[in-house]
Amino acid sequence: MTQDEMKQAVARAAIEQVPSGCIIGVGTGSTANHFINELGKIKNKIEGAVASSEATANLLRSHGIAVLDLNSVDQLELYVDGADEITHNMHMIKGGGGALTREKIVAAVSRKFVCVADETKLVDLLGKFPLPVEVIPMARSYVSRELAKLGGQPKLRAGFTTDNGNVILDVHGLSIMNPVELEGIINQITGVVTNGLFARRPADLLLLGTSNGVRQIRA
Ligand code: A5P
Repeated sequence: MTQDEMKQAVARAAIEQVPSGCIIGVGTGSTANHFINELGKIKNKIEGAVASSEATANLLRSHGIAVLDLNSVDQLELYVDGADEITHNMHMIKGGGGALTREKIVAAVSRKFVCVADETKLVDLLGKFPLPVEVIPMARSYVSRELAKLGGQPKLRAGFTTDNGNVILDVHGLSIMNPVELEGIINQITGVVTNGLFARRPADLLLLGTSNGVRQIRA
């Protein structure tokens, strides 16, 4: 089974988690895109969706799924999104696609976070995947120096602007022993909008695509 086939398999499995008559949150990336394509087949089961990026909003609309403003919604029953790395504790690194801030906002409003990922994403220790940090453009150099003090090597994601008009620093070389603590420390650096550690609001369920089928993992 290829990596993409595993992503398709978890996307199909995630459809079983979708409650009837609700508004759900939808993430960003290739696995989330497979989920949206499956969601299009059952679009009458849901009231609509809140998107974590412009790209996701466009794909949802192309399937005829109503895209709602998060400010018009008090709570989402479900959020489905991929990850760049995830541990058995359900802590994640996200933001490989650059949508981390809106993803974290939508996840915060969601009662249940289902992470959909292929088996290459499951790790014992976070940090091999460079940690994305969204930064206000004028603070780029200052934030880079502060991230270097934490032991990382930040690199500007060249030619990339987020949906919020900001830049991304990808921080290489971190071994993240305490993701909950590091998430807070990085978010305290002035000029940081969000970092891609999702540890304070981890996933509730991981649907992991493997060559032997889809595994369900909880913390
Ligand atoms: C998007 O910003 C990310 O958080 C994605 O969820 C992550 O990069 C996973 O992407 P794939 O599903 O494409 O691997």
